[in-house]
Amino acid sequence: MRGIVLAGGAGTRLDPMTRVASKQLQPVYDKPMIYYPLATLMEAGISEILIISTPTDTPRFEELLGDGSPWGLSIEYAVQERPGGIAQAFLVGESFVGDEPVALILGDNIFYGALGLAEIVGAFTEGAMVFGYPVSDPLRYGVVELAADGKVLSLEEKPERPKSNLAVPGFYLYDGRVVQMTKGLRPSARGELEITDLNRAYMEEGSLRAVRLGRGIAWLDSGTHDSLLEAANFIATIEHRQGLKIACLEEIALQQGLVTPEEMETTLAAMPNSTYRDYVAGVLEEHQSAQ
Ligand code: TTP
Repeated sequence: MRGIVLAGGAGTRLDPMTRVASKQLQPVYDKPMIYYPLATLMEAGISEILIISTPTDTPRFEELLGDGSPWGLSIEYAVQERPGGIAQAFLVGESFVGDEPVALILGDNIFYGALGLAEIVGAFTEGAMVFGYPVSDPLRYGVVELAADGKVLSLEEKPERPKSNLAVPGFYLYDGRVVQMTKGLRPSARGELEITDLNRAYMEEGSLRAVRLGRGIAWLDSGTHDSLLEAANFIATIEHRQGLKIACLEEIALQQGLVTPEEMETTLAAMPNSTYRDYVAGVLEEHQSAQ
């Protein structure tokens, strides 16, 4: 399966920081925000990735991530001229998606914990899949109501009376019909191609399923100054406590066999001195001594 990271948008809630660099380039403790959704895709076994961003920010992502080869990834880029909605990713990325299944993750979605994505993605064949994450304030989110067998009964955007406490995070799987399904959508009242409308189209034909994410998984928000700081503190707390990094792309690439230790040595040699580099060096050393 291929993956898209949608990393455009205006990021107005993070103004003035987002005047010169988009939200997904902001630091979340020790790495840029986009590292986290990239790590999620890698953990799901996805290595062919399209990054979609704004005309001004796309070159900045290219500068940061290049063609993805240091992590054994193939990264391509496409521009969304203006924020026309999350589902527009499938029109911007039409040639990348073709008629193959695809995962979409929003560039500001940070997950932590054992989500079991490799199994979920490996078993995915048709229809669409969303996730349901228990939150204390479902009114702020897209909310999904589930049957016992995982079929979606209802999907509502910021409901006044939520039918469940399960919010839908920005990570979705679609079958090879997604581009055609998106072409059948009409823009909403705010002029956007809404991801909820796309999911509803799958729901109406009975092919939308949802996986409930359990305890022990964190889905962090990072769109406001406070939530960005909280996310950074969360990552820092776990990293300090365990001495293990979250979303270290080099580490995941090595674990997943996307790069060889020799290739990682070359990458390491080009990295400037930092505690991040020290960590990667430690990971490589441990990997080599375990061989
Ligand atoms: P939002 O958080 O809804 O919007 P935003 O990031 O522009 O932030 P703000 O409300 O502060 O202005 O978007 C969710 C994610 O989806 C975010 O990563 C940006 C991305 N996005 C796009 O890339 N293109 C789009 O057309 C839309 C609507 C969102």
